[in-house]
Amino acid sequence: MTTTDLSYQIRQQTPQDMPEIGRLMGLGFAPSHSGRAIWQLRQGIPILSLSLVADAGDHLLGSIRYWPIIIGGRPSILLGPLAVDPDVRGKGIGVSLVRESLHLAGAESWEWCFISGEPGYYLKFGFKPVTYDDIALPAHIEPERLHLLALTQAKPELMPEKPWMISPSDPAASDVQDDVRQTKDVS
Ligand SMILES: CC(C)(COP(=O)(O)OP(=O)(O)OC[C@H]1O[C@@H](n2cnc3c(N)ncnc32)[C@H](O)[C@@H]1OP(=O)(O)O)[C@@H](O)C(=O)NCCC(=O)NCCS
Repeated sequence: MTTTDLSYQIRQQTPQDMPEIGRLMGLGFAPSHSGRAIWQLRQGIPILSLSLVADAGDHLLGSIRYWPIIIGGRPSILLGPLAVDPDVRGKGIGVSLVRESLHLAGAESWEWCFISGEPGYYLKFGFKPVTYDDIALPAHIEPERLHLLALTQAKPELMPEKPWMISPSDPAASDVQDDVRQTKDVS
């Protein structure tokens, strides 16, 4: 999809990438974070068409994954986890992964994108901070981490009164979580 001076390619992730993605998650997130509330929204499997890696050939430099969720009754996505190898941080890989995946999301039918992320990092992509007056979550997340982005297909006129309930899109699919959670991490 994209090649840069750093000699990596951004491409869709495949099942063969799982060990490398697990390595990146281990470098990016403390194991103690694996029970964080955000994982209650990650049911079933990630959206493969949006989940990308930065591939340096013999190893991965970064990974981004998305899960389907429902926001105010509308088909939406949860961004993350996003992780870049500590050796190559600050070189634009994280930004490229977010930009390219959001571009792909805009071409699909998803309407809103939610992120529980570092305050400040996601504003450059158009995310807006939201509060518990705007959204309702199945579990508490620190308010300063809450951000929402209207994707190309968003239909604000169809949204219910706030707060918009955010829930997993397929709670019944939790039995297929185990494979995914082998690379479990936090966002
Ligand atoms: C956050 C992370 C993905 C950024 O990846 P990266 O490739 O180093 O980021 P980029 O080089 O694309 O972007 C750099 C920009 O983001 C900013 N940035 C980096 N980490 C940030 C953070 N934690 N909070 C806010 N801004 C951050 C930098 O200041 C820089 O801004 P500038 O372009 O205005 O100078 C990476 O640091 C990482 O893997 N961290 C550990 C896991 C994590 O925290 N993931 C995100 C969870 S929300």
